[in-house]
Amino acid sequence: MDDRTYIKSHIRTVPDWPEPGVQFRDITPLLQNPKVFRVLIDQFVHRYFDVRPDVVAGLDARGFIIGSVLAYELNVGFVPIRKKGKLPFTTVEETYELEYGSATVELHTDAVKPGDRVVLIDDLIATGGTMMAGKRLLERLGAQVIEGAAIVELPELGGADKLRAAGLPLFTLVSFE
Ligand code: PRP
Ligand code: HPA
Repeated sequence: MDDRTYIKSHIRTVPDWPEPGVQFRDITPLLQNPKVFRVLIDQFVHRYFDVRPDVVAGLDARGFIIGSVLAYELNVGFVPIRKKGKLPFTTVEETYELEYGSATVELHTDAVKPGDRVVLIDDLIATGGTMMAGKRLLERLGAQVIEGAAIVELPELGGADKLRAAGLPLFTLVSFE
């Protein structure tokens, strides 16, 4: 079995969660198994080792789990992009539309420097709203998001295509139609 198939086989689909009709792609079995967790992280390490980003930025909350390990392995800093109200220092914020309502994410104003080359990582891209908001925050501080990375993309929701059309290259490992 190739590595991506091995990774995909450890993503659990939970029907009708958090609401009827949603097929939730749950990555916790991936994290729980040390062998597959290492295969997963190594995919990202190999992708970015020679790219040498200045910073890895992770999206709240599951982007923190893989993003911090990736940053550690690349020997670069990790910065969290958090849901509103969690970061203590001065922040910039971006609000984006959800299916129902909206959400706001924040980034510390000193998290990146102008010109920093950033890899932006999350577990999953659905509508792409979260990653787009993260990209905008980093760019407002003068950083360059060189690539968005995620374990999973859900192509039928169109988020990955939208991000690519907005000029963000993406690296994803698994897709669920
Ligand atoms: C999920 C997922 C991504 C985002 C993807 O997080 O982990 O961050 O949604 O959706 P999008 O592409 O439509 O923006 P969620 O908001 O459920 O937060 P959590 O990680 O705190 O559970
Ligand atoms: N899994 C995890 N996060 C998500 C999903 C999913 O299927 N859909 C939207 N955010």
